Amino acid sequence: MSEQVKNKILALSSELNEHNYNYYVKSAPTISDYDFDILLKELEQLEKEHPEFAFDNSPTKRVGGDITKKFNSVKHQYPMLSLSNSYSEEEIKEWAERIHKLAENEISYVCELKYDGVAIGIRYKDGQIVQAVTRGDGTKGEEVTTNVKTIRTIPLQIGKNAPDEFEIRGEIFFPLDNFAKLNEQRASEGEELYANPRNTASGTLKLQNSKVVAERGLDCYLYGVYGENLGLTSHSEAVNAAGSWGFKIPDESKKMITKVNTIDEIMEFIHYWDAERKNLPFEIDGVVIKVDNYRQQDEMGFTAKSPRWAIAYKFKAEQVSTTLNEVTYQVGRTGAITPVANLAPVLLAGTTVKRASLHNKDQIEKLDLHLGDEVYVEKGGEIIPKIVGVDLSERPKNSEPIQFLENCPECSTALIRREGEAQHFCPNESTCPPQIKGRIEHFISRKAMDIDGLGPETIDLLNKQGLVNNYSDLYHLTFNQIVELERMADKSANNCIQSIEVSLEVPFERVLFALGIRHVGETVAKNLAKHFKTLDKLMAASFDELVAVDDIGDKIAISLQAFFLDEKNQEIIERLRACGLNFEIVLEEDASDKLNGQTFVISGVFEKVSRNELKSLIEKNGGKNTSSISAKTSYLVAGDKMGPAKLEKAEKLGLTIINEDEFLQLIGM
Ligand code: IVH
Repeated sequence: MSEQVKNKILALSSELNEHNYNYYVKSAPTISDYDFDILLKELEQLEKEHPEFAFDNSPTKRVGGDITKKFNSVKHQYPMLSLSNSYSEEEIKEWAERIHKLAENEISYVCELKYDGVAIGIRYKDGQIVQAVTRGDGTKGEEVTTNVKTIRTIPLQIGKNAPDEFEIRGEIFFPLDNFAKLNEQRASEGEELYANPRNTASGTLKLQNSKVVAERGLDCYLYGVYGENLGLTSHSEAVNAAGSWGFKIPDESKKMITKVNTIDEIMEFIHYWDAERKNLPFEIDGVVIKVDNYRQQDEMGFTAKSPRWAIAYKFKAEQVSTTLNEVTYQVGRTGAITPVANLAPVLLAGTTVKRASLHNKDQIEKLDLHLGDEVYVEKGGEIIPKIVGVDLSERPKNSEPIQFLENCPECSTALIRREGEAQHFCPNESTCPPQIKGRIEHFISRKAMDIDGLGPETIDLLNKQGLVNNYSDLYHLTFNQIVELERMADKSANNCIQSIEVSLEVPFERVLFALGIRHVGETVAKNLAKHFKTLDKLMAASFDELVAVDDIGDKIAISLQAFFLDEKNQEIIERLRACGLNFEIVLEEDASDKLNGQTFVISGVFEKVSRNELKSLIEKNGGKNTSSISAKTSYLVAGDKMGPAKLEKAEKLGLTIINEDEFLQLIGM
């Protein structure tokens, strides 16, 4: 029996590994996402039932969940060197000429991209991933294995054609679409946005909770193989071999890597990618040119810090200088204050730049900005241009350093800075206009209540006229009140009223998101709604009950309690309730709460329904699936071929054991 289970687990794992590779590395899946999920769930279940066969490198580890308390410092077996780099084509030519003299024979070069991420060294032994370490100071790095295992393009197990032991090196980065998604989510939670993909990739790798790392969707390209007696003779051979072992390597057909023989071809590669890099789904900050042949590499050797056989050409971030006219301050819906530099308009990378974000007070002080300064503006990875420095030679005489605001620019309330946070806040939630308007805009946004036809201008007008002071007022608006607003036609007014009415159907989880509670984004709202089922239960939950929910930590629990304790919020909630918003989970058609509070273990094989269907029936009807029998189990649903050990344990604990038919009766099927 146990041998059979073990073999099943191994077979499922290798099938899933194969699909994972086809999907993520090859971008050519051969089964549907749904079928993949079914296989994965089956493996998860088997591992739960037989933890003795739950291998460290199982495909189920991809979703993360393991916590790293402390990132251990690890010495690199092969030092992780850096590259000498240059911004000038002339210097690249000089480098090529220099090494030409060092080599006895003709030189072939490999040109590749310089990925803008975090360097990683990953060791494999006997086909298994064993350790992943960051670059650190080049001699020692931090072990981030658990987090790296969640990156789906990095194989956990590799094929038999790979060497027994080796280290592979590459760059972990944040794909731009995933980075944008993360920032959208941050915005919806009222949190400060992350500035750029590289730093965020680096921060993500050092998160303690690997589940969060898995959700963020990092990616990786590999560019080096290290080990003893690997039988490889050149860099290009190593990269191709790594590809055949299952690693994600640069795509030759997309010109991401090219073998060339002349300086002209190197320049061609540089020019191509300088223009083309804006179309890549990730960031690069240059290209790397490497001597291909290992023997020639050895002949050339190293300087103290970097190999002589490679050089990086770095793209220049486009930069201009312009005058800082004024610093203004924006107030977000959570009261967060963002300083904005107002600049003399200037052309940069094809667009006219008038403003740049300054992030926070510390940033202004770091740059030592004075009014009227001539500042350098750069458009790097960030979407919003940033100020990178000041031309001190142009500083106007007697100019004063910028003093950060002490009071809210909109309502004059004294600003606060909470411990450990970089941003200042206006604490006046109830009457500060941009906070009021920001909360209403969030409330009506597409992913929240999805109310059409009310743009920011209309909200502004409604607020100025005293008609809407908080989102609950929306449900008391009349057609006449709206149609009388400036530039509002009958049709659009009608549209607004209808859209407000339709929003009463929005499910509870989105209503909860719409309330705009700090740190409560879409996913958190969904988890809370699913767990507590009604707003009343959520409002009554203790701190301990809140943090017991999936993905809810101290920060969110504190924010929820503060929100619900506030009397004004309580009043608004009561008004919304009276208008008929959904404050409870509405059950799906075939769902019920018949199994509420009941815990099930299913075991064996069934005739009328599959195990997965059975599980989903349990959940749909409010019950909970668990894998192991304990005194807390309400029912053991026993099928054919159930293990005798399980049955014995259930009998010992005096559990109620039911068969398939009896279960179906429980839910009235
Ligand atoms: S080769 C001994 N190749 O750039 C040479 N590095 O400045 C080792 N990087 O730490 C590096 N893309 O993080 C190499 N195609 C590439 C690269 C690359 C990005 C990064 C890497 C390294 C840094 C060196």
